[in-house]
Amino acid sequence: MKYDLQIKNVRIATVNNENQIIPCGRVFIKGNKIAKIECHEENEDSEINIFAKKAIDGKGLLLTPGLIDCHTHMVFAGDRSNELFLRNRGESYCSITKRGGGILSTVKQTQITEFNLLENSAVSRAKTMLKQGVTTIEIKSGYGLNLNTEEKILKVAKALEFSLPISVITTYLGLHAIPEKYKYNIDLYVNKVIERYLPVIAEKKLATFVDAFCDKIAFTKHQVERYLNKAKQLGFKLKLHAEQMSDQKGALMAAKLGAHSVDHLEYLSKRDCLEISKMRTVAVLLPGAYYYLKEVKLPPIDTLQEYKIPIAIASDANPGTSPFFSLPLIMNMACVIFGLDSNDILKGVTLNAARALGISDNVGSVEVGKIADLVLWKTKSFERVIASPTEELCSTIIKEGKIVKL
Ligand code: NIG
Ligand code: FE
Repeated sequence: MKYDLQIKNVRIATVNNENQIIPCGRVFIKGNKIAKIECHEENEDSEINIFAKKAIDGKGLLLTPGLIDCHTHMVFAGDRSNELFLRNRGESYCSITKRGGGILSTVKQTQITEFNLLENSAVSRAKTMLKQGVTTIEIKSGYGLNLNTEEKILKVAKALEFSLPISVITTYLGLHAIPEKYKYNIDLYVNKVIERYLPVIAEKKLATFVDAFCDKIAFTKHQVERYLNKAKQLGFKLKLHAEQMSDQKGALMAAKLGAHSVDHLEYLSKRDCLEISKMRTVAVLLPGAYYYLKEVKLPPIDTLQEYKIPIAIASDANPGTSPFFSLPLIMNMACVIFGLDSNDILKGVTLNAARALGISDNVGSVEVGKIADLVLWKTKSFERVIASPTEELCSTIIKEGKIVKL
C-alpha cells in the first residue's frame, strides 16, 4: 500500500503563503506526514484510492490543519472565580494583585499541590481543548516562582504528551510575579532567576522558550531585558507578555532580541509597530484576557495589519484573566471584539501560531511534507466554527496521521 490513510471529499481550508480553499479535495497520508493533496470532482473516486489502507469520506465537509494554541498557562491549581466578582464590585486586577491575590494566590495553591493532582487537572483541560480541534499547545510555567514548583509545572506540561495525542511546547515563565519575600528587593529575585534558575531549566531541557511579564505590576523593561539576554545565551527562544496594561516598550525590546512573539499588546504604540514589522516577530493577540478583564483599549490591530506583522490568536488559558479552555470561543472573541475576519483568524490559530512557536516548517497548514495534524468539522465553513463556538462542530481529529479516539 502506498498510503496509510486517505481523507476524501473534503473542503480544505488552509493558509500557506496565501489563503487557500480547495472546494473538493482529498489528502493522502503516509506515516505521520501529508504525502499528497488532490482536487477532485464531488463523489469521484481516485484511481489511487486502492493504494490507501484506510479511507475517510468527508462528505463535503470542512478539513483544516489542527489548531494551535500558542499561549496558555494551563497547568495550575486553585480557583480564582471570586476575582471576577471583586472586579465587579470595583476592585481592579492591579489592586487584587498588589494585595497578594491574582497570580500569587495561584502560586500558593500550585506550590502545595502534588504532581499527580496537578497533572489530572491539566489533562482534563487539555482534553477539553483537544476535543475542540487543538492538536498543539504551548504551556507556560510561572505559577511556581521557586525552582521546584517551576520544574514541577514544566514536567506536568510535558507529560501531557503521554496522556493525550497533543503536542506540547513548554515555556519557562521565570519572571511572572514578584514573590512576597522579594517585594522590597525585586532585583535580588531577578538575579536569582537569571543566575540560578535559568541555567538549571536549560540544563534539564525543560523548556524551549522563556517568557516574562513586563508591566507596571510586574517587571521592568530593564529587568526583563537582562533576563532575556541571558536566556538567549543559554539557547532559549524568546517570548514576552508585553504592553498588556501599560506601554513599557517591552515588545520592541523583545523583538530586537529576536523574540518569536510578543503577546497581549493592547498598549503597543503605532511607532513601535513600525519597528517591530522590520523583525520576524509574531504579534499574539489574546482576546480572552481583554474580554474577561473588561479592557477597553484595543490592541493596534489596523496598524499591525497595515505593517504586515503576522498576527496569531491564542487562549491565554489561565485561572485569573482568561479561564477559557476553548480556542473556538477565543476565535469568536477575536471576530466580535477585535473585528478580525475569518481568514485572519484561521491563519492566527494555524500558520501564524506555528510561527510564534517556531514550528511552521512542520505544522500549521495542509501542505505536502508537513505533519498530518488535521481536523474534520461538521460544517462546510470555517466561518461557522467561529460564529458558533459552543456547537461542538469538531468531528474527527487526525494527530500525526492517526485518527484520534475521543
Ligand atoms: O497572560 N499577564 C500575565 N499573566 C497572565 C495572567 C495570569 C493570572 O492572572 O493568573 C496573562 O494574562
Ligand atoms: Fe499569558
